[in-house]
Amino acid sequence: MPIAKKVTKAVFPAAGLGTRFLPATKASPKEMLPIVDKPQIEYAVDEALACGITEYVIITGKNKRAIEDHFDFVYELDDNLSRKGKDQVLASINRFSAYNFAYIRQGRPLGLGHAVLCAKPFVKDEPFAVILSDDVIHPDDELMKPMIEIYEKRQAPVLALMEVPQEDVSKYGIASAEPEGDGLFRITNLIEKPSPKDAPSNLAVIGRYVLTPDIFEHLEGLQPGAGGEIQLTDGIRSLLARRPVYGCLFRGHRYDAGDKLGFLKATTELALRDPSLRDAYREYLIGLSSRLK
Ligand code: UTP
Repeated sequence: MPIAKKVTKAVFPAAGLGTRFLPATKASPKEMLPIVDKPQIEYAVDEALACGITEYVIITGKNKRAIEDHFDFVYELDDNLSRKGKDQVLASINRFSAYNFAYIRQGRPLGLGHAVLCAKPFVKDEPFAVILSDDVIHPDDELMKPMIEIYEKRQAPVLALMEVPQEDVSKYGIASAEPEGDGLFRITNLIEKPSPKDAPSNLAVIGRYVLTPDIFEHLEGLQPGAGGEIQLTDGIRSLLARRPVYGCLFRGHRYDAGDKLGFLKATTELALRDPSLRDAYREYLIGLSSRLK
C-alpha cells in the first residue's frame, strides 16, 4: 500500500467513560475538564496544530457533545467579544476555524484499539497521529514533532516511550526495545499492563503515536485483552511481526490528567506558567507549604 509522506491527520480518542473522575464525568466529558482555563482536548489539538496537522477527527461517544460544541463557531460569543473589543480572546477562541474537524462516534467504549479502528474511514490510506488528551505534555516540551520526523525518515510507525518507576509498569503498555542512539529505539515486543516481575523494561508507551494505515488490519477482529478492552498495544504488537516499529524516548514533563493526582499536578505546573497567575499562585503555594509543615 503506498504511504503518503506527510502526516496531516490526527485522531483524538475521547469516547472513554472516565471512571477515575466520577462523579464529574457522569454526564460531562473528561476531555473537557479544564487545566487552568483550557480543556484537556484543546491542549491536545494545539499540540497537533503546532506540528502542521490540519485535519482532526475526534472519537466521541455518549455525553460527549460538549466537545463538538467547543470546536464550533459561536456567533453570540463572536458578536459579544467583537463589540467589547476583546480581540485577543476572540482570536484565541476562533483559531481552529480554518481547520477541518470531524467526529466519529464509538457506539460502545470497547477500548482504545477499537476507538482508533473507528477512525479508519477518516484516515483512509494515510499515516496519522494519535493523541490521548488525558496524557498532557507540558507545552514547552516537544514530543509529537520529533516523532513525526522519525516517521518521515523511517516511513514506519513511531510510539512515544517514557521511563517509569518499576512499581508503575502495571499501569502501562511496556516495550522491549533496542536502543539505536539519540533516544530512538526499535521496538521488539509490547506487553499491556504487565506485573513488575513480567515487565521486559520500564519503558512505558505513553499517549502519542504516529501510525500507518496497515494498523487497521491488525485491529480488525482483535479480541479483548487486558482489562477486557480491545487494546491498541495488542494491535501494534501484531503489526510488529510485519514491519519495524520505532520508539521515541520522551524526557520532558508529562501528566496523567486522567488520574486525580496527575490532573492536580498538571493544573499547578501550568498555572505557574501563566503570566497572569504565576506570582500570586506561587506566593499562595509557598504559604501553603509552610502551613503544611
Ligand atoms: P483511558 O483508559 O485513560 O480513559 O483511555 P477512560 O476509559 O476514559 O478512563 P478511566 O480509566 O475509566 O478513568 C485513554 C483514552 O482513550 C479514550 C479515552 O477517552 C481516553 O482519551 N478511549 C478509551 C476511547 O476513546 N474509547 C475507549 O473505548 C476507551
